Amino acid sequence: MKTSIAIYPGSFDPVTNGHLDLIERGEKMFDLLIVAVLRNTEKAPLFSVPERVEMLREVTRQWSGVEVEVFDGLLVDYARKRHAGVILRGIRAISDYEYELQMALMNRKLEPRLETVFMLPGETYSYLSSKLVREIAQLGGPLQGLVPPVVEDRLRAKILRSVRKNLSNVRRQNALRGSGQTGATKRRKRATD
Ligand code: PNS
Repeated sequence: MKTSIAIYPGSFDPVTNGHLDLIERGEKMFDLLIVAVLRNTEKAPLFSVPERVEMLREVTRQWSGVEVEVFDGLLVDYARKRHAGVILRGIRAISDYEYELQMALMNRKLEPRLETVFMLPGETYSYLSSKLVREIAQLGGPLQGLVPPVVEDRLRAKILRSVRKNLSNVRRQNALRGSGQTGATKRRKRATD
C-alpha cells in the first residue's frame, strides 16, 4: 500500500531514460512523488531550470502521482516544507555509492526523521548519465534509447543553436580581420578618435 510523500531530487540536465525508469518505479511506491530540480547557480547547465522543468513535466504527464518542482537551499528544509518523509535516489553502480552514502548520512544528521531510499534503475540504464548524454549530443552522436524523444529533439535544437552562434561569431571575427579591424583594433581606434 502507498502511504507517503517522497522527493526525488536532482539536476536533471537533462532528464534521461534512467531517471524516468526510477520515477516509474517510485511512482508505484509512494502516494506522491515530487521530482525536485535543484536551482543550482554554481554549475554551468546546458538547459535552464525552466527548460528542465518543462521537459520533466512533459515526460511525466502520464502519472497523476508525480509532481515536478524547483527547489533551492537545503534539501531537508524543502522536504520539511513539502511534508515528505522520504528522499528517493538511484544507485547505478558501486561508483555512485560513496557520494550517495555521504549525502544520505548528512541529510540524516540534518533531519533524522527523513529516510533516504535507494533504488536500482533497470540494468539497461546502469551506464547512463546526463553528463554523457550532453557530451554525446554535443559531438553529434546517437541519442536514441538514452533520452525520451522530446528531450532528444530539445538537445538537437540546443546544440544546433550553439553551433550556429559559434559559426556566426567566427564569421564576424573573419570579416573584421578581412577589414583589418578586430574588436581590439576597433576599440583602440575608437579611443584615439
Ligand atoms: O543530480 P545530482 O546533481 O546528483 O543531485 C544532487 C542533489 C540535488 C541531490 C544535491 O546536490 C542536493 O540535495 N542539493 C541541495 C543542497 C543540500 O541539501 N546539500 C546538502 C546535501 S547533504
